[in-house]
Amino acid sequence: MTIQWFPGHMAKAKREVTEKLKLIDIVFELVDARIPMSSRNPLIDEIVANKPRIMLLNKADMADPDVTKQWIDFFAAQQIEAIAIDSQSGTGVKQIVTVAKEKLRPKFEKMMAKGIKRPRAMRALIVGIPNVGKSTLINRLAGKHIAKTGDTPGVTKAQQWIKVGKELELLDTPGILWPKFEDEEVGLKLATTGAIKDTILNLQDVAVYALRFLAAHYPDRLKERYALSDIPEDIVVLFDEIGKRRGCLAAGGVVDYDKVSELVLRDIRTEKLGRLSFDRL
Ligand code: G4P
Repeated sequence: MTIQWFPGHMAKAKREVTEKLKLIDIVFELVDARIPMSSRNPLIDEIVANKPRIMLLNKADMADPDVTKQWIDFFAAQQIEAIAIDSQSGTGVKQIVTVAKEKLRPKFEKMMAKGIKRPRAMRALIVGIPNVGKSTLINRLAGKHIAKTGDTPGVTKAQQWIKVGKELELLDTPGILWPKFEDEEVGLKLATTGAIKDTILNLQDVAVYALRFLAAHYPDRLKERYALSDIPEDIVVLFDEIGKRRGCLAAGGVVDYDKVSELVLRDIRTEKLGRLSFDRL
């Protein structure tokens, strides 16, 4: 899903999330584990303000596990508890309730001290930019397929709570916020991982960025995937080498750079180059 974010849409999305925050105890901030910084909303700290929050590094199955560990430590140093999860398979998802309970213990203990014998379930809202996996996680937590994928901001309907066991209730519609696209590199990372559509940025620019990144951080995987004995310095030569080996050719046998770009990006997104992390510490 691609949402065109204009200032009016951003203000409305912020308003909608702010309204929902009034109903909940805790925020689950969902980001893409491959780009935990680039897939955050730039105003998230301001928007979520004083609500307890857990950060969920989703799609951890696609991210470089060593880098994910570093990010978890990085966020921990900022007092932000982060958990690596895979909403598709469910790995790590059970931990969310445990950590949420721990975070909300002081609040619920206060309620009990005031004489409320049986505290109600914790209420949570999932927030994140489009395509980070919000609907997949809601479905996973709910244990059945109830949340529509492709929810659009601005579509109002009655709020409903989804029960997750006895201890947690989730708002059925997630909070959808915009990414930081004012930073060019962030945009390229969002495009490389498929968070934004290829038509938003120039396809070849995205592939140039992705290939340069792979050459710098994952040279062996790049060589292995495209049977390169070494990685040419000149990016055009690299495109040519990949194109010739993979038959990405236009009429007359010349290398078709769009085809090479599509191939490389598809390979990255389908993990043909293994688990990759594009935000690095
Ligand atoms: P959103 O509500 O935040 O917009 O995201 P959504 O759940 O629609 O998920 C976006 C894409 O990411 C979906 O793939 C979904 O399957 C995939 N996804 C979500 N969580 C995970 C995860 O933890 N690991 C992996 N590997 N993928 C995840 P899609 O290609 O758009 O659809 P489909 O392949 O499910 O048909």
